[in-house]
Amino acid sequence: MKRTSIYAAALALVSLGVPQALSAQPVKLTVEANKPVAEIQPSMWGIFFEDINFAADGGIYAELVKNRSFEFLTPMMGWKELKTGNASGKVLIENRGDAHINNPRFAHVTVDAANGGFGLTNEGFRGMGVKEGEQYNFSILVRNSENSPVKLTVELVSADGKKIGECSLDGFKDGWNQYTASLTSKATDAKARLNIIFTGKGSVDIDMVSLFPHHTWKNRPNGLRADLVQLLYDLKPGFVRFPGGCIVEGRDLANRYQWKTTVGKVEERKQIINRWNTEFSWRPAPDYFQSYGLGFYEYFLLSEDIGAEPLPIINCGMACQYNTGEVVPMNQLEPYVQDMLDLIEFANGDATTKWGSLRAQMGHPAPFNLKMLGVGNEQWDEQYVDRYKVIAKTLKEKYPNIKLVASSGPSPDGDRFDYLWKELKALNGDLVDEHYYQSPEWFYKNASRYDSYDRKGPKVFAGEYASHTKGGTAPESRNNWEAALSEAALMTGLERNAAVVHMASYAPLFAHIEAWQWNPDLIWFDNLRSFGTPSYYVQKAFANNKGTNVVPILCGGAAVAGKDSLYASSVIDQKSHELIVKVANASASAKATQIEVKGVSVNAKSASCQVMQAQNLADYNTLDTPTKVAPKPAAVKVAGSKLTLTLDGRSFYLIKVKYK
Ligand code: AHR
Repeated sequence: MKRTSIYAAALALVSLGVPQALSAQPVKLTVEANKPVAEIQPSMWGIFFEDINFAADGGIYAELVKNRSFEFLTPMMGWKELKTGNASGKVLIENRGDAHINNPRFAHVTVDAANGGFGLTNEGFRGMGVKEGEQYNFSILVRNSENSPVKLTVELVSADGKKIGECSLDGFKDGWNQYTASLTSKATDAKARLNIIFTGKGSVDIDMVSLFPHHTWKNRPNGLRADLVQLLYDLKPGFVRFPGGCIVEGRDLANRYQWKTTVGKVEERKQIINRWNTEFSWRPAPDYFQSYGLGFYEYFLLSEDIGAEPLPIINCGMACQYNTGEVVPMNQLEPYVQDMLDLIEFANGDATTKWGSLRAQMGHPAPFNLKMLGVGNEQWDEQYVDRYKVIAKTLKEKYPNIKLVASSGPSPDGDRFDYLWKELKALNGDLVDEHYYQSPEWFYKNASRYDSYDRKGPKVFAGEYASHTKGGTAPESRNNWEAALSEAALMTGLERNAAVVHMASYAPLFAHIEAWQWNPDLIWFDNLRSFGTPSYYVQKAFANNKGTNVVPILCGGAAVAGKDSLYASSVIDQKSHELIVKVANASASAKATQIEVKGVSVNAKSASCQVMQAQNLADYNTLDTPTKVAPKPAAVKVAGSKLTLTLDGRSFYLIKVKYK
């Protein structure tokens, strides 16, 4: 198809929208493409990963068995006993205590099944998502101290009770050994379950019962759900912040995130309750735990796999100040500081160092090249500054090139925020993490927030933000177009101010449709499918088109930051010689617009344009309509140095053109 006919088709598509009044006079914008005002950090647009909403276990971590090691508070949660024929049997949960401190429990199964069988069925995470024709890898730790002649049949069963896959194991020996087998699913089902059925007579001990799809991201064992990682990969994120969020802090210090318990052999990682299990009484999740199958090694690997810088956040001796607010006494902070130093060694140390050698044993001899880390999450007040000072001093003495991200508290303004910014400026902090879960109105208003920020002080990391149309974490607060459009407007302000805003990430990232605690979220999924929200496509537009340098885009000599409901930013990419303009039109009326490009000559034939818009501000994407609100081609005409287009009402445009 010739380019002209693409534009004709695009025009037809766009004009399918609601009829809109067109402004009489064209809006005139000017881009000064030869006057770069700031460099854009390669890591500018990133992602924020927290195990909330079943993002890890039951989400991106592809394990299908829930409570595989019987370590939930209720050891048999997710499991039920199962008998067929005349069999009988019993399951006893035993606790090895200190003999296996991180994974003390196992199940002692006694079976008497001359015919039929006795065993367990696992319900998975709101069921198990399996696909027809795909291979699933089963593994189990078994100890057969009594040399019992028992055999094991493993069955995949559909929601309506049909057997859709089977494999078997026998020859169990004394001592703990791992046994593996694989099966192929005969059907696609989002709500399958797994049966493990023993036959024969005797007893065995079992632990770490696991079923993984063979096809994970890069087919890694103990891997990640490929469709979910693909959505992240497609974003081209500059960084991955992990593991959160409040999960870093814990409700109390005992339940804080401790990275050392999340690395090494999977069966030796220490599972704990997920803080989102009980956080919101209106969204209880009694079966929400952290198996840490997705631990720090896997987070580093994920970052590398998707071309992003790792940004781990460490606990700084403070539990969540909304919960217990516990702090470790200053004279007992040393282990926390040591954890940070050891983490750097784990990420960057060579294979002769203690922690570098663990990384190498786990499969990654080369360093992960960690360049930054965060100290605490939403911490505030003097107790934070006191602890930050000690951590920052130690870090900078040993690793002056590693950048530190510091907290400005949970709100984007107020006394706590002002106090922390003042202190962090005085301390010459590297990056200050700001969080805003606010209304669309707030987002529009704050598109010019950073225009007046000091360029010489610490840089801004907009580490968690999302537009909430209904306030707070209200269940009705959807990821709709109203929210995404206001985020696009704000993001033009972040981009325009790339001189001071060095990093930004929407939050939270993932939510399971049947198991979420916090809403809205960037990507939603069930056990088989996933989709990006309108906010996802806005993030993608910025992250995929970040350019290398900000260039001014002006209207009447001023930044385009809300006048006539327009918000705009423009960048050049000095490597690809592209000029990229982003414009959000927040008003209901269409606007005839002319963008004059000064200082370079543009290649008319190379121009392209995409629009995001919706019939209604309340429109959102679903599993069945995953791209209802997503970018579509739109028309732009180029004559000489002028780009002409109509900005539809309540729309967001991405315009690209090559220049010389
Ligand atoms: O993103 C959800 C939560 O919001 C994060 O855990 C916390 O940092 C913030 O309060």
